[in-house]
Amino acid sequence: MLGIPTALLAVFAAAVAAQSGSWPHDYPGKPSTPFGPDWQEYFRVKDPLPNVTWPVSRQFAGNIPVGRPGHPNNTLFFWGVEHRNGSLTGNTNDTEPWGIWLNGGPGSSSLLGFGFENGPIRLSPRGEKVTPNNYTWANLVDYFWIDQPVGVGWSTADVDGNVHDEDEVGRDFMGFLGNLMNVFPSLKTRPLYLTGESYAGTYIPYIMKTYFGMEYPPVNIAAFAIGNGVFGSEAVYFNLPSITILETYPQLIGYNSDVFEYLREQEHLCGYDLNLTYPQVGGTFPSLSIGPPPGDSLKTRKDTLKRRHSVGRLIRTVAESLDERTAPSSSRRKREFVPPTSNGTINPIYGCDLFDEALHYALDNVQPWTDPATHFTYYDIADGLAAEAQLSGDEFFNDPRVRAAVHAPTSKEWSESSGYVFTGSEDGSDPSLEPMVFLTELAANASDHGVRVVIYSGNDDALVSHRGSEVVIQNTTFGGIQGFTRKPSTPWYDDDGNLAGIVRQERNWTYVLVKDAGHLVPYNSPERGFVLFRDFILGISDTGLVVTSENGTVSVVGGEDPALAGNALLGQPGIYIGTGVGEDMTTTGTFTFPAATVAAWESFIATATATRASSGP
Ligand SMILES: *[C@@H]1O[C@H](CO)[C@@H](O)[C@H](O)[C@H]1NC(C)=O
Ligand SMILES: *[C@@H]1O[C@H](CO)[C@@H](O)[C@H](O)[C@H]1NC(C)=O
Ligand SMILES: *[C@@H]1O[C@H](CO)[C@@H](O)[C@H](O)[C@H]1NC(C)=O
Ligand SMILES: *[C@@H]1O[C@H](CO)[C@@H](O)[C@H](O)[C@H]1NC(C)=O
Ligand SMILES: *[C@@H]1O[C@H](CO)[C@@H](O)[C@H](O)[C@H]1NC(C)=O
Ligand SMILES: *[C@@H]1O[C@H](CO)[C@@H](O)[C@H](O)[C@H]1NC(C)=O
Ligand SMILES: *[C@@H]1O[C@H](CO)[C@@H](O)[C@H](O)[C@H]1NC(C)=O
Ligand SMILES: *[C@@H]1O[C@H](CO)[C@@H](O)[C@H](O)[C@H]1NC(C)=O
Ligand SMILES: *[C@@H]1O[C@H](CO)[C@@H](O)[C@H](O)[C@H]1NC(C)=O
Ligand SMILES: *[C@@H]1O[C@H](CO)[C@@H](O)[C@H](O)[C@H]1NC(C)=O
Ligand SMILES: *[C@@H]1O[C@H](CO)[C@@H](O)[C@H](O)[C@H]1NC(C)=O
Repeated sequence: MLGIPTALLAVFAAAVAAQSGSWPHDYPGKPSTPFGPDWQEYFRVKDPLPNVTWPVSRQFAGNIPVGRPGHPNNTLFFWGVEHRNGSLTGNTNDTEPWGIWLNGGPGSSSLLGFGFENGPIRLSPRGEKVTPNNYTWANLVDYFWIDQPVGVGWSTADVDGNVHDEDEVGRDFMGFLGNLMNVFPSLKTRPLYLTGESYAGTYIPYIMKTYFGMEYPPVNIAAFAIGNGVFGSEAVYFNLPSITILETYPQLIGYNSDVFEYLREQEHLCGYDLNLTYPQVGGTFPSLSIGPPPGDSLKTRKDTLKRRHSVGRLIRTVAESLDERTAPSSSRRKREFVPPTSNGTINPIYGCDLFDEALHYALDNVQPWTDPATHFTYYDIADGLAAEAQLSGDEFFNDPRVRAAVHAPTSKEWSESSGYVFTGSEDGSDPSLEPMVFLTELAANASDHGVRVVIYSGNDDALVSHRGSEVVIQNTTFGGIQGFTRKPSTPWYDDDGNLAGIVRQERNWTYVLVKDAGHLVPYNSPERGFVLFRDFILGISDTGLVVTSENGTVSVVGGEDPALAGNALLGQPGIYIGTGVGEDMTTTGTFTFPAATVAAWESFIATATATRASSGP
């Protein structure tokens, strides 16, 4: 396993440095006309990319203004790849799909997706080696990787041009697309699949909201897809899923049933044990927050929790504490983990920060994480490897030949993560509300416009767990009904015929759980990411679809497997351990627990969760 780019959830500098202005560079041959098809030749990537020694599809790249009044240097950077020679520039017919990929952060460049996830090239962790990605989504449709909001990656922004909130993110994006459509007119009417990951789970719903509010939108969106997305509140995507994460990886608590029961009581006391029912009954869920721990004695901690309240702020806090959490145990500050006793009160040290509590237990008490040579990886629980190279595209994307070939700005360096995205708020965080609050309205608009919704999750992610996404789905009314009416429990398979996870499709909403993948699905599992895109995002597969026949009989395409109907899909049995950097791993292996320990847990959990299991078909 390779290193994980912490930058996909932005790692911020301690002090938020204000942005200096940046602007697009004028390369030779730049037309002086307004944006139109004559710009295609200017944007075409004509010079070979260094170390790319095989034929790649034609590409187009450069900066295009968002059209915000008074901000001429506010642009987004795009890198588009044809799936067929001429498919972006010819008279491609109206039915041919195209796609857009957005990374999250906030502040992550979508070129991380281009270079490490679903783009046509696959960089080695430090970017010095380039290989073809046989599973690029651009094999199927024309695809664009777009750096946004303004100022991120190779996008540019005036000194005072950064976005103020998510509504401005949406307006800028539509302004950019309007100009892009003039360059590639065939795209105006072709069905667009807007896809992204992580914090793009906040961007995309706001972009869709802007789109639905436009009388004459510049594009024709057919579906949007969000992977491991941040669209609920912090409590929902980060703290509430703790017990599900432990059911997925009981290794974290050493398969200890007492610790599990103790944490499950904490879950209940915190109100995190939401009962997802299929169909969902009892109306929408109340708002959840991680709240302060009981008692005023721990004032500092309380203040911390308060500060962490906004979504943008949370991501930053998580990133900041990541170093400490993933440091080898020898250098880690020892935690006072309160021994698990269930006495009916919320643990005063952790409050409802349940994942912190479980993780500290693992780091202090459980092999392999107590081993100094093992790291805990938020993005991919099974990855315990130490001293990995952080994924970095610096060397490749900042190479002068790459920069010139893709018409990138010279007024700034490319960086995988920008610390300064939002302006106007005290700490540079996103002041906008989480999309959950308008998701039912968004779903109604989506139905009216025939827009499909796809939500997927890598099962091994501890940062933005699938449980949070399931809560969001069951808390949203779409097609006139709240949530799915049948629990996601239909298996889907990859092209090798292996079980790849669970799928449910109902009323134009699709939910896919991807087995053995973490936060970055196409990075961990390029092949499954590709099948996910082909079958469930483009939507050619009916697997998991709930069908009601004329006589009222309900059936599910692909059937339902009771073994997949629990609250969690078991993770990988072994934790990857060892030290090494990138591909130069020295000693690597997997850590597994004794079979008897696992067996004892299995019989415990079978009865422990029988009472908890969601009701309904
Ligand atoms: C693409 O098509 C053009 C003609 O339209 C041709 O000149 C070029 O060689 C083709 N490129 C590839 C890679 O097939
Ligand atoms: C239009 O494109 C679709 C999808 O690629 C293809 O199936 C169809 O045959 C094309 N129709 C025409 C008229 O070219
Ligand atoms: C190209 O490959 C060489 C040899 O691996 C490496 O030293 C160099 O940094 C690479 N260049 C880029 C731009 O990635
Ligand atoms: C990708 O495809 C090429 C050409 O078909 C093949 O040589 C190569 O082994 C493939 N790489 C992987 C990682 O599958
Ligand atoms: C916009 O870019 C130009 C260079 O093209 C630069 O001279 C100017 O200062 C920039 N304006 C702002 C407001 O940043
Ligand atoms: C829904 O569409 C209306 C226009 O019909 C728009 O005003 C509203 O902002 C949209 N809301 C969302 C959440 O999409
Ligand atoms: C879920 O159901 C259980 C069992 O009926 C109950 O104890 C628990 O309080 C419920 N959770 C919530 C948040 O209402
Ligand atoms: C459920 O949705 C409502 C809006 O319909 C929202 O106010 C509430 O916070 C959501 N609850 C959770 C747990 O996300
Ligand atoms: C319950 O246990 C916690 C430690 O988990 C302790 O701090 C608290 O004092 C206990 N409360 C009672 C009422 O015993
Ligand atoms: C799902 O989408 C199809 C095609 O746009 C539409 O006919 C159907 O009414 C939609 N179903 C619901 C429940 O929105
Ligand atoms: C209802 O229709 C389905 C297929 O449309 C059929 O398989 C089933 O036997 C029917 N059930 C009854 C009770 O008629």
